[in-house]
Amino acid sequence: MNDIAVLDIAVLGNGRVGGNLATALARAGHQVTVADRTPGAAAHAARSARIVINATPGAGSLERLTALRAELRGKILVDVSNATTDGPDGLPADLLYPGSSLAERLQEALPDTRVVKTLNTMLFPVMTAPATLTQPPTAFLSGEDPQAKQTVRELLTGLGWRTEWIADLGGIQTARATEAAILFVPHVIRSSGFTPFAISVAR
Ligand SMILES: NC(=O)c1ccc[n+]([C@@H]2O[C@H](COP(=O)([O-])OP(=O)(O)OC[C@H]3O[C@@H](n4cnc5c(N)ncnc54)[C@H](OP(=O)(O)O)[C@@H]3O)[C@@H](O)[C@H]2O)c1
Repeated sequence: MNDIAVLDIAVLGNGRVGGNLATALARAGHQVTVADRTPGAAAHAARSARIVINATPGAGSLERLTALRAELRGKILVDVSNATTDGPDGLPADLLYPGSSLAERLQEALPDTRVVKTLNTMLFPVMTAPATLTQPPTAFLSGEDPQAKQTVRELLTGLGWRTEWIADLGGIQTARATEAAILFVPHVIRSSGFTPFAISVAR
């Protein structure tokens, strides 16, 4: 266990992203509950958590999370999902919310919840092992609440993210930029396979 504060975290979604994050956050010393799609599981996990991570498919996330409005009140919602329409090969093809973003829609729908968008600009193994890439990746933060972003920053630090790799872009509207980065993903995967990668700002 490291010396960061122990947080109660609910991870919604037990797939590649959710499972990976839950394991790493538990290893970092946090109290983690994972909710799969079993009816009531997400509400149960979210109710007792201080931080809720959305790692479910982006296309249904707005509806799914709006249904948890009561459980999410006063909480930090860390949204790592990407809302896309998919092509015939199953890879993301286009944005579901052009001219906006899922994160903005979530923040509008959940005014009593502090939404922070992060980690959606990389393949899932990078989220919990950023130092394994040959060049430093970037973890972007978008959100209205500075304190919530500070808490998420600390979470990221516990997952191996160095301070200089974390870029706070500003308010929730900046998630439009990071969500649009999903448009790179199918092309990068087609050209170089599923080798872990991240979008990063180089200087
Ligand atoms: N994979 C990546 O590298 C990556 C990177 C960045 C962001 N993301 C985003 O992260 C999110 C999760 O991606 P993933 O790759 O982890 O997907 P995944 O492996 O398919 O996992 C999705 C999880 O969500 C669950 N789920 C599906 N529908 C649900 C519902 N209606 N209610 C509750 N849970 C439901 C799935 O349950 P079942 O197993 O029962 O279907 C599964 O546990 C997506 O929004 C994706 O865009 C993914």
